[in-house]
Formats: sequence, structure tokens, C-alpha cells
Amino acid sequence: MRAYRLNGAAAPLKRVEEADLLPGPGELLIELKATTLNYRDLIVREDRYGGDQRADLVPLSDGAGIVAAVGDGVSRDRIGERVAIGFMPKWTEGLFSAAKQDGALGGGFVDGVLAERIVVPAGGVARLPDDWSFVEGAAYPCAGVTAWNCLFGGRGIRPGDTVLVEGTGGVSTFALQFARAVGARVIVTSSSDEKLAEARKLGADAGINYRETPDWGIRAAEIAGGEGVDHVVEVGGSGTLNQALQAVRLGGEVSLVGVLTGFGGDVNTGAILMKAISVRGVYVGSVSDLSAALRTGVRPVIDEVFSFENADEAFERLRSGRHRGKVAVQIAA
Ligand SMILES: NC(=O)c1ccc[n+]([C@@H]2O[C@H](COP(=O)([O-])OP(=O)(O)OC[C@H]3O[C@@H](n4cnc5c(N)ncnc54)[C@H](OP(=O)(O)O)[C@@H]3O)[C@@H](O)[C@H]2O)c1
Repeated sequence: MRAYRLNGAAAPLKRVEEADLLPGPGELLIELKATTLNYRDLIVREDRYGGDQRADLVPLSDGAGIVAAVGDGVSRDRIGERVAIGFMPKWTEGLFSAAKQDGALGGGFVDGVLAERIVVPAGGVARLPDDWSFVEGAAYPCAGVTAWNCLFGGRGIRPGDTVLVEGTGGVSTFALQFARAVGARVIVTSSSDEKLAEARKLGADAGINYRETPDWGIRAAEIAGGEGVDHVVEVGGSGTLNQALQAVRLGGEVSLVGVLTGFGGDVNTGAILMKAISVRGVYVGSVSDLSAALRTGVRPVIDEVFSFENADEAFERLRSGRHRGKVAVQIAA
């Protein structure tokens, strides 16, 4: 089968021809059709993700395709199922654990989905709606599930709540769409007025350019009506968290998702305490969360689809920061 492997941060990905895979007991062989990229894939490629990592890993975590074969103990009826693969296929449901995290695709020592086929546990996939493309399905496993988990995995947002979404990348665009789907108001921040205008077309009620308005947290609280927003989807990390804490209302919730401005840093612990804010770390979610996210019926925003031959260009597109929504690679027709 054809696959790509990492080849150092600066060099193009290495195209390889490898032996075909066979599913073992309790496993599925998936014929991959599409994949999409996440910010994580950039930092894995640059070996900045943290922890030990195999140097020639098959990159990318988010795949969709067709069940092509099954191992012993799995019903042959599953052959032909159209599926999206869980980001952590061993985390089928329930509480998070180290053993479940261990299987995260396309990072550490676990090969990912930039290949024609992959073997995963039989419980590691969710069925795609019949009329969805594989690119749409492949948009969900990391960004879609993370956004869904932020908004519904904790106390859960309600119609009429105000949600602040930072940026217009993969996770944030999903969060905007999910929040609108339940009737919440959405405030979006972005570095670009053009992207804010696009976010409004998707239903955002207000936008703030975070470059022009460095105190965007205070501005968001004003827009929300004084007390602050009910929920923040915090993708920025150390450089944005304190603004997020300014934006959120007393008793509100901040979902801590991202590291775009780095790990660590000073945190306004006083604000968390005095405003009784719930800060909830989110690490993607389970396969059961993936099924729930797909059931929302929210069709993902796809930025651009690259061919398998041009996979390197997909990485460049994501690195450019010009994308809105998900950057995809079509692996097979
Ligand atoms: N914890 C988890 O489970 C999990 C899952 C998925 C992703 N993540 C993390 O979440 C973050 C976003 O991931 P992604 O895949 O959605 O990334 P992405 O598609 O590359 O989007 C990144 C977007 O973030 C915005 N941004 C960049 N710097 C910002 C800043 N200082 N303040 C506000 N927004 C900023 C930009 O929006 P504009 O261009 O509009 O300015 C950019 O388009 C990353 O740190 C990623 O590692 C975590």
C-alpha cells in the first residue's frame, strides 16, 4: 500500500510503498478515503508535540473510509460500513485513561492515517451518515469531537447562552456551528476581518479582531451584556487564557483546549476563584462522543481538499494560517 512517513521537520514527507495490513482478532481493516489536518499534525511533524516520538511516523490522526476486512470475532456484516475513525480508537466510551490515550493516532509511536489502509479495533469507529462525503467524515475525529466535548461534555450549553469562540480554525469553526445549532449566541475572535465576516455568514452574532482589540476579553463581556459570556472555547493557551477569564461570567465555564500561543505561563488564579469559573481541560473525546457529534448533523466547513500526491501542500496550507475550517487530503476516490 502507499503511505507517507515523516522525514524530519524541513524535508518533504517520504512516500513509501509498504506491505498490506491484515486485521487481527477483534480488528477492522479500513480502506482510507480521506483525512483532514489539525494543528497537532504541524507540531508532530516538527517534533514539538512533547514526549517521545517515532521519527518516521505515518502522520495525521483523522481518517474516514470503508471497512474492507474484519478479523476473527467481528461480524462480516461490517464489511462495507462507511466510517470515521476515532482519534483514540481504544477510547470507546467512559472516563479517560492512560491506556485509552495510548492509542492516539499519528503521534508518539502510533502510525496515523496518511496511508491507503489502517487496522483499528472494531469498536474504534463511528458510522457516517449515508449522504456525507468521506472528507466531511474525516473532519470530525479530532476537531469536531473536541468542539462537541467543549460545549456538551461538561455542564452543557443551552439555548440563549453566549459562547465565545477564539479564532476561526478547525475546532473553533465546529464550536461556532454546534453552538448556533442549539440556539446559543456566538462571539468569534479572529486576526482577520475577512474571516470574521465569514464567521458571521455561519451565524456568529458578533466578531472581535484580537489584533486590533488586545483587550478582547473585556470587549466580549460587554457584547454579552455586562456579566460576561457563559462559555469560552479557549484554543490559544497561555497567551489568551487570562483574556478568556476576563470574558467569562461569574460561574461560567472555560474549556481549555489549545496551545497555539504555547504551554504553561502565568494564570490569573484569583479570577478563577473569585468568579467561581469552571476551567475544564478537554482532550478530544471518545468514539461514543464522535458518534454523538456526527448525530448533530452539522456539516463541517471544508477549506481546501488536496490530492494524496500533494499531501505536503496540505501541511503548507495549514501552516499558512490562511485556512478557515478544515484542510483535507483525498486519499482515494
Ligand atoms: N485538547 C484537544 O483535545 C485539542 C484538540 C484539537 C485541537 N487542539 C488545539 O487547539 C488549537 C486549535 O487547533 P485547530 O486544529 O483548530 O487549529 P487550526 O485549524 O490551525 O486553527 C488555528 C486558529 O487559531 C486562531 N489563533 C491563532 N492564534 C491565536 C490567538 N493568539 N488568539 C486567538 N486565536 C488564535 C487562528 O484564527 P484566525 O486565523 O481567525 O486568527 C487560527 O486560524 C491548537 O492549539 C490545537 O493543538 C486541542
